[in-house]
Amino acid sequence: MKILVVGGAGYIGSHMVKMLHDLGNQVITFDNLSSGFRDAVLGGEFVQGDLADIPTIDKVFQQYQPDAVMHFASYIQVGESVQHPDKYYLNNFTNTLNLLNVMVKHDVKSFIFSSTAAVFGEPEYVPIDEAHPKAPLNPYGRSKWMVEQVLADYERAYGLKSVCLRYFNAAGADPSALLGERHEPETHLIPLVLQAISGKRPHISVFGRDYDTPDGTCIRDYIHIVDLCSAHLLALKQLTVDGVSKRFNLGNGAGFSVQEVISVAEQVTGKKVKVIDAPRRDGDPARLVADATLAKRTLGWAPVYTDLATIIKHAWAWETKVR
Ligand code: UFG
Repeated sequence: MKILVVGGAGYIGSHMVKMLHDLGNQVITFDNLSSGFRDAVLGGEFVQGDLADIPTIDKVFQQYQPDAVMHFASYIQVGESVQHPDKYYLNNFTNTLNLLNVMVKHDVKSFIFSSTAAVFGEPEYVPIDEAHPKAPLNPYGRSKWMVEQVLADYERAYGLKSVCLRYFNAAGADPSALLGERHEPETHLIPLVLQAISGKRPHISVFGRDYDTPDGTCIRDYIHIVDLCSAHLLALKQLTVDGVSKRFNLGNGAGFSVQEVISVAEQVTGKKVKVIDAPRRDGDPARLVADATLAKRTLGWAPVYTDLATIIKHAWAWETKVR
């Protein structure tokens, strides 16, 4: 297939590009490099461009005529989205509409969308299934939920088919260590712990030890980046065969606390890390765990790297790679 990967130079997008390319697909990456890296695009064509620039998107569709689009290009920081909602609604929502409108114009009907667990807001129950109420607590989550709703309208009006994949905590790195997590600034727990262990940071802060969880720290569902990408692949395959739009929650189904992540990172690396207790971070729910049964049943998705030690081992190989 010929697949346009928007945001293919970012953390998740670059792993997706590699997987698609390695499997023999024709891949075109479209990325403005605002947070991605050109050298993370390990195969296919690369076009530097911005989703605010409709003529350039149009040109890419004219030139490459993709069969399908995967969209990873968005801002992802919850706290920043509260302070600068304009940035989030403009890029994550309005610019996504630009992309969808060009798809409609060129009659490209298959769309895989990176959504998020943040569409659910404070969990009413865990594990969280697809039917859980959607009540995003911040502009980041709302911008993603708005796109999900627009996609339902675009299907009704224009026949555009989509699969929305709601990620829980994407983590780890390609086992080859050719790719890994590279955010600037980095805000995610696992890379921060590993950078503290490797001496790039002075310590790791634990944001709150008074949550209603067994050890008092927040519980998250860490899903290996390769497993996340394999779900995209299966979603795209199914969408192009049955043409039925769907939404899936993607996680391991297992929750690990912040303290457990730190302890497993110490075990995997054989090194100790300096831990500092810090206040709670605004908007952090105590426990976010996915019920990914639907994705497993419908797509035949079978995550391979489900244990936390393997996820951290791969992240550590990337973190310690000379680059
Ligand atoms: N944490 C720390 N110290 C740190 C960084 C994080 O204790 O230095 C804690 C957080 O408070 C949280 C857990 O580690 O309890 C995980 O935090 P991350 O920032 O790694 O991930 P989040 O769960 O906050 O965010 C993820 C995605 C977001 C998405 C969100 C959905 O990265 O894009 O899930 O709720 F919005």
